[in-house]
Amino acid sequence: MTWALTPLTEEQRAIQQTAREFARHELAPHVDQRDRDAYFEPDVIDKLAALGFLGMMVPEQFDGLGLDTLTYLVALEEIAAVDASTAVLMSVHNSLPTQMVLRWGSDDQKERFLRPMARGELLGAFALSEPDAGSDAASLRTQAVRDGDCWVLNGTKAWVSSGTHAGVVLAMARTDSPQDRRGARGIGAFIVTPDLPGFSVGKKENKMGLRSSPTVQLRFDNMRVPKRNLLGEPGMGFIYAMQSLDAGRLGIGAQAVGIAQAALTYASKYAAERRQFGKPIKEFQAIQFKLADMAVRVSSSRALLHAAATARDRGQHITQFSAMAKLMASEAAMFVTSEAIQIFGGYGYVKEYPVERLFRDAKVTEIYEGTSEIQRIVIARELYSHANI
Ligand code: CAA
Repeated sequence: MTWALTPLTEEQRAIQQTAREFARHELAPHVDQRDRDAYFEPDVIDKLAALGFLGMMVPEQFDGLGLDTLTYLVALEEIAAVDASTAVLMSVHNSLPTQMVLRWGSDDQKERFLRPMARGELLGAFALSEPDAGSDAASLRTQAVRDGDCWVLNGTKAWVSSGTHAGVVLAMARTDSPQDRRGARGIGAFIVTPDLPGFSVGKKENKMGLRSSPTVQLRFDNMRVPKRNLLGEPGMGFIYAMQSLDAGRLGIGAQAVGIAQAALTYASKYAAERRQFGKPIKEFQAIQFKLADMAVRVSSSRALLHAAATARDRGQHITQFSAMAKLMASEAAMFVTSEAIQIFGGYGYVKEYPVERLFRDAKVTEIYEGTSEIQRIVIARELYSHANI
């Protein structure tokens, strides 16, 4: 059962229902097998595209659905509740690369990349991290050097979700020179396509959770990127990436709420069916207290997430609220999935029931698009920023 404190419009409820049915009919049947085999089903891209779910926040003039952030998150939660691996594909594509091209792309870039991304013909990925630059993203080392009509890129990007199937990668690389390092202001954002000579997909990670979402390294070896593929200004890529992550983190928050809601639903049903000491275990206060604590965390995470989404749609500065929503939802997802396993007892610890997968899938929401520790830093810093004083 999914409910929202935020009143949803008729259109939002219709899209929520579409997402729910799609998840049930198209994603649920083989989700455990895909998890077991770490198998990504490429057909899912076309299926999401057919629903318009790969252009949710892109205006209709660029072939998207032109929906607001809240509607997008409501749909994303439904997908995540069934298949968190598909949810991350949808979240990254909708929140990061498409939004970056929409916001800072030239008219030419919007024609060549945004339209096909919104139609779902080109899947988008986001490449900020590197093997030695995770939380300290501004320390990235991939170097871009201008050469005639091109930028020549060398380096390795890491933890790239959907990197195996991406048709467009928004990749951050240093545009400053080694003699004149400019920190966060010396990084550009490049629109990279896999057909560029020197582009290759590297190591695929063998992950604990989100196993059917391929996470890879990307290698750039003297990769020549046409200069018309530089997004905006050469030294602004890090700022663009950070601003985009404000929206990205809402997507991860929705993914976490979806996972948590699914775990709560499974646990409450199981508690009604499972009998011990002569009665259903839901009649024991020990179990009722767990379910109540789980429900409080799911609902409060969703409420904060929806409030942050609504603030984004009003054009408010959301850096702090998106970090809060992601932090709260991801920690709720860990708590709720862990308690769900406890309610299932031994059955929760085996792969026969889905709570074991939900627990593994939940963990990464405390790590990617900024760890919980980074979210706390962002929240604390924002307390002193001009926007909040
Ligand atoms: N919006 C706009 N500008 C921002 C911003 C935001 N949210 N956050 C930072 N900036 C600006 C700052 O104002 C500053 O600008 P000035 O040059 O004008 O001063 C500039 O960016 C540098 O900011 P900081 O000084 O705060 O930079 P920092 O080095 O101290 O790092 C950080 C800040 C918050 C720790 C940042 O590095 C961070 O968020 N780290 C985590 C990285 C992350 O989330 N990575 C996820 C990668 S994607 C992924 O997970 C894979 C996937 O596919 C899902």
